[in-house]
Amino acid sequence: MAQADCSFVIAPGALPLLGHTLRFLRDPLRFLRSLPDIGDVVTIRLGPVGAVVVCAPELVRQVLVDDRTFDKGGFLFDRSREFLGNGLGTCLHKDHRRQRRMIQPAFHRARLPGYAREMSAQAHAVTDAWRHGRTIDVLAETTAISLRTTAATIFSAAPAALRESLAADLATLEEGVFRRMLLPPHVDAVPTPGKRRYDRAHARSRQTINRIIADYRADGVDHGDLMSMLLAAQDDLAGPGTEGARLSDDEVRDQVMSFLFASTDTIGKALAWALHLLGGHPHIAERLHAEADAVLAGGVAGFDDLPRLEVTRNIITETMRLYPPGWLLTRTTTVDAELGGRHIPAGTDVAFSPYQIHHRGDLFTEPERFDPDRWAPDRAGAIPREAFLPFGGGARKCIGDAYALTEATLALATIAARWRLEPTPGRRVRAAPYALALGPKGLFMRTVARDVAGHEVRGRSAASGEGAGRPKDTSASRP
Ligand code: HEM
Repeated sequence: MAQADCSFVIAPGALPLLGHTLRFLRDPLRFLRSLPDIGDVVTIRLGPVGAVVVCAPELVRQVLVDDRTFDKGGFLFDRSREFLGNGLGTCLHKDHRRQRRMIQPAFHRARLPGYAREMSAQAHAVTDAWRHGRTIDVLAETTAISLRTTAATIFSAAPAALRESLAADLATLEEGVFRRMLLPPHVDAVPTPGKRRYDRAHARSRQTINRIIADYRADGVDHGDLMSMLLAAQDDLAGPGTEGARLSDDEVRDQVMSFLFASTDTIGKALAWALHLLGGHPHIAERLHAEADAVLAGGVAGFDDLPRLEVTRNIITETMRLYPPGWLLTRTTTVDAELGGRHIPAGTDVAFSPYQIHHRGDLFTEPERFDPDRWAPDRAGAIPREAFLPFGGGARKCIGDAYALTEATLALATIAARWRLEPTPGRRVRAAPYALALGPKGLFMRTVARDVAGHEVRGRSAASGEGAGRPKDTSASRP
């Protein structure tokens, strides 16, 4: 990684050797939010690594659109390739177009109704086990919904034991990955217990996926899931039987790893944030419940309900504006480049933050306010296109954006039809950015079962009418 030897203004407060590392680690979101006041592009130093942070939305757009010059790389992506491999999210520009061509059909709109069936089923399964009046670890529950959905849509035919093993390893990898990305390789090489646990989870998860691939190849059945589609994927630009016309087993494994990482944490955290925000804005929660009652009448949300779940969708969109799971992204310049009329040498780390852009007062009125109605058709048109990038943009835009919005909307409506979640007094919820995805920390809420008329259903499960309760601690993440 190169030093950012550019003529951009340097963020104040750099310490000798450490640069801005301490300020960044202490409160990365605050640090990022302070940068637009300094310049459109600002140089920072994280230990020995220099990077330029692009703050102006039109310049971020330039970075996103020119993905040959601003290729995947930089301090967040260089290390992630070590464990995520060369999948769609991490591969370089030279491999990207072929991979995207081959994988895109799996995310075609026509596939969504099939995925939506699993999304609804898993949201129902997790929330059906809730009991009235309990305190739940919201992030664990929403992560359980997204993890179960991801497993069901990627490899529906994999044995439960393999899915469970993968779920546990994924949790370990997710915990350790951000730290590993920021540590210099020689420090990360020290075999601490955490590092050994991480390495074991890494090796085992690859073996597990390899085994699932081998089983799928052996039975040769099309299970209608993402794995079946990856195995059958054909590059139309390569002649049949030529090298590269199909994805190799290693390539399939890297894609699966990318999907698992890209989808589980992000959707789980977005849903958790939505529930947290609703807890603090009861008047908006009431509108959500009213919509769920009118559309679902106490049932589970399905794909055909989506057009009528407008309040729900706007709540999800606004949640991802305030707390975009992909809060910080990086690139590296492959050649000498220009940004905002200034020179950037080849090999420079370039960072940008959807979180920072989404909180700019010149792009959003009252940017700190939770206001789902800003996405209503009569107001949304006033928001510039480059101001909202929860899924990135350009050729590297999230391939799972429609999948993610569908899952989050169906899950939130399904929850709202039967449950109201109340904040637990005295607990402080904080944004925890020390992970690839920005999540809430300390989010525990109380379940209130409700019926279609909006009444509280005391002393029983909202879903089944049973009186039996689960243990108070519902934090175990179920795959
Ligand atoms: C709320 C949920 C999600 C959010 C916020 C999100 C966010 C993002 C962002 C910001 C990028 C661009 C990264 C960059 O420019 O460096 C991205 C790329 C990607 N996402 Fe998502 N994502 C979500 C869900 C999903 C799902 C459900 C899948 C797949 C099942 C997925 C798969 C991918 C892949 C494969 C890429 C790389 C695309 C490419 O480079 O061509 N994501 N995502």
